[in-house]
Amino acid sequence: MNNAVAGFSKLSKNEKINWIANTYFSTPEEALKIIRNYWNSDHKLQQLHDEFIENTITNLYIPLGVAPNFLINGTYKTIPMAIEESSVVAAASKAAKFWATRGGFKATVMNTEKIGQVHFTFNGEAEKLQLFFDQIKPKFFSDTQSITKNMQQRGGGILDIQLRDKRNLLDNYFQLHATFETKDSMGANFINSCLEQFATTLKEEAQNSDLFAQNETLQVVMSILSNYVPNCVVRAEVSCPVEDLTEKHITNPQEFAERFVQAVQIAEVEPFRAVTHNKGIMNGVDAVILATGNDFRAVEAGIHAYASRNGQYSSLSHAKIENGIFTFWLEIPLALGTVGGLTSLHPLVKLCLEVLQKPSARELMEVVAVAGLAQNFAALRSLTTNGIQAGHMKMHLNNIINQFEATEEERHLIKTHFKTNAISHSAVVEFIENLRK
Ligand code: MEV
Repeated sequence: MNNAVAGFSKLSKNEKINWIANTYFSTPEEALKIIRNYWNSDHKLQQLHDEFIENTITNLYIPLGVAPNFLINGTYKTIPMAIEESSVVAAASKAAKFWATRGGFKATVMNTEKIGQVHFTFNGEAEKLQLFFDQIKPKFFSDTQSITKNMQQRGGGILDIQLRDKRNLLDNYFQLHATFETKDSMGANFINSCLEQFATTLKEEAQNSDLFAQNETLQVVMSILSNYVPNCVVRAEVSCPVEDLTEKHITNPQEFAERFVQAVQIAEVEPFRAVTHNKGIMNGVDAVILATGNDFRAVEAGIHAYASRNGQYSSLSHAKIENGIFTFWLEIPLALGTVGGLTSLHPLVKLCLEVLQKPSARELMEVVAVAGLAQNFAALRSLTTNGIQAGHMKMHLNNIINQFEATEEERHLIKTHFKTNAISHSAVVEFIENLRK
């Protein structure tokens, strides 16, 4: 079947869903019903969502939960988390409760520098290019004044612009490597606008410069921010005397602390484990990023690059026992915004930011790092004690029940039975089948 379509974006929303339903479904009415079921009955709200992207046909819901009792730098916070994975919010809440009675989380923003680059080629002498760059550098600042004015008023702007010789990587390859402070905005539009102006200035000035010979040409390839922000880093930490780690599942705190540190060390040296270890951290990070309307793809890309900064993919978190004190910490780069973008457009994102008491971008960095550390703590605590399956399957039970469209009565019977019996997919299926016999 040839399913190509011309001019799809110009069709009305109804025409689009009809095309989808008729092209891909043997019972188009069923498909249309599902699509329409997820439309918001508030027409204006639906239109807002429709206009976030092109060719919107409906909305895909992801649960928005909250993890309360996070003691961060001495203040209790409730963290909103948008995520579909069953056990994440429960694990975060448990870790929050655990650490609230052991001094809480400490979080510190180390720096907040963002990066953007103009990539270009130049086939002449590098010394001349450096001279040219030094001459025109002030012009990059003056030509972007209309873009930077507001940002400067908020205490941000362009920090520096450097010429970088990258000919060891590619023939004739140079960069303008610029650094920015974007305060409470993520800054993508601001940075990209500045960069495109730098590129224009660079080209125009090169054309008019008498430093270069006829055959020495400068060509801009592209101008774009970098999502790798190794100087926009936040650290989150928990620590307590080893003996204070005692609780229901930790009867021998010294043994637990040692095994926990070993688990982290394995992730530090072994990439297969490091990826899963960091995935657990990202369970917490992404859920808050999504709930607060930030760009999780940018954050993911930047964080994984940071995890490989020493040449091998490694753990983002670290742990030690020193003088009887257990310390567990995490450092991640995060370029976040609490103004602009979706933060002022999406009603639920606004609500989440209110729950977080309207944080600055720096405060949000702290909250996100703490959510990542809490998640990692919860995962490692389970992995080094009871294993994760008991907790996972408990949360997964609901999914299985829903899959079988259990009635209220069946739901009650299933939940009661599996309070005292081991949960596995097949055991639940068997139990439901027996119930229905
Ligand atoms: C599952 O989403 C995350 C874990 O695999 C993380 C880990 O192994 O550390 C439990």
